[in-house]
Amino acid sequence: MEALVYEPREKSPEVKAPANGAAKTMKALVYHGPGKKSWEDKPKPGLTKPTDAIVKILKTTICGTDLHIMKGDLPEVADGRIIGHEGVGIVEEVGSAVSNFKKGDHVIISCVTSCGKCEYCKKGMYSHCADGGWILGYMIDGTQAEYVRIPHADNSLYPIPAGSDEEALVMLSDILPTGFECGVLNGQVKPGDIVAIVGSGPIGVAALLTAQFYSPAEIVMIDMDENRLNVAKTFGATHIINSANENAIETIMRLTNGRGVDVAIEAVGVPATFELCQEIIAPGGHIANIGVHGKSVTLHLETLWSRNITITTRLVDTVTTPLLLKTVQSKKIEPNKLITHHFRLDRVMEAYETFGNAAKEKALKVILTAD
Ligand SMILES: NC(=O)c1ccc[n+]([C@@H]2O[C@H](COP(=O)([O-])OP(=O)(O)OC[C@H]3O[C@@H](n4cnc5c(N)ncnc54)[C@H](O)[C@@H]3O)[C@@H](O)[C@H]2O)c1
Ligand SMILES: [Zn+2]
Ligand SMILES: [Zn+2]
Repeated sequence: MEALVYEPREKSPEVKAPANGAAKTMKALVYHGPGKKSWEDKPKPGLTKPTDAIVKILKTTICGTDLHIMKGDLPEVADGRIIGHEGVGIVEEVGSAVSNFKKGDHVIISCVTSCGKCEYCKKGMYSHCADGGWILGYMIDGTQAEYVRIPHADNSLYPIPAGSDEEALVMLSDILPTGFECGVLNGQVKPGDIVAIVGSGPIGVAALLTAQFYSPAEIVMIDMDENRLNVAKTFGATHIINSANENAIETIMRLTNGRGVDVAIEAVGVPATFELCQEIIAPGGHIANIGVHGKSVTLHLETLWSRNITITTRLVDTVTTPLLLKTVQSKKIEPNKLITHHFRLDRVMEAYETFGNAAKEKALKVILTAD
């Protein structure tokens, strides 16, 4: 991971003191082009449509995708954008058309915004909602801030049951549905399967946790970060491979008697790891890509054309959030164990340093708590 360059900024010029003197500004983590970000004043968001809600952030976190944005892998992200797409909060204000939520409700913010009414939403493909999809902290301002505006609040927020561990529920904004939908469901993990998960970051670990719903025989985690691999072992990985120290292809072939794996889940987002998935897949297997890719990758049809494999891609739809919430409530999975670091929200720049140097810092998921 490249070092991130911090550029502390003065107040944004567009922030004007309101006439009545009331606080109409807030603090937010703002992207200013590859490698540049700052914690600065921004206008507090207001309702723009009757279907909006304004949510006061209680807890948020940083995603591997935010690191891709910082690297410049997603050049469509505008200078001045507040990033972050995960979190829990309290509803501060709702538009006149919001019927599921009211001021004071505790909510999970989904990383995907969805109207629930368009053709794609009706198919359960919220990620491609005609008036939403993944826009939060990407095309519109996101959650690494004191307040966030959530469009289509009725379908894009989830109520938090009373007495819940709200930190654990931050993992439901993105990582658990992503690992489950893009990795486990698309990979069609079945009882007795041998599954390889390439990437033992939060998303890879979310795939590891949710793959176990289906009782695969073996789950092999591959990464270059020894600490994350050791953590994966405590979460149910049956084998770990440090691909910095050993040849992952040879080890997988030895483990599988030369057959390869039934499911290869790509949870990194670089060419080398998708190529690895193509090398280790058994005939009839599924390669389920999760990673956000900023560079093209070679598809080896010259070897794969005859192997009856399936390759899937997916932007998380978050349609499984209610189901996953039940598994967290019943402690079938305990995502709070992914949390390695806590920061106050106003220390978000330090949190990026920690998450961006995960191997050195032994970081998996960081939690940022607002005052
Ligand atoms: N499809 C979606 O909807 C969706 C949603 C969220 C996140 N993502 C993507 O999922 C990916 C993982 O997210 P994360 O938060 O876990 O990221 P992360 O950066 O925390 O973790 C990535 C892991 O990959 C490992 N790694 C890097 N290069 C490697 C290599 N060559 N071989 C083996 N391991 C390697 C790193 O050590 C790290 O542990 C990212 O690309 C992210 O953008 C996709
Ligand atoms: Zn994310
Ligand atoms: Zn829609």
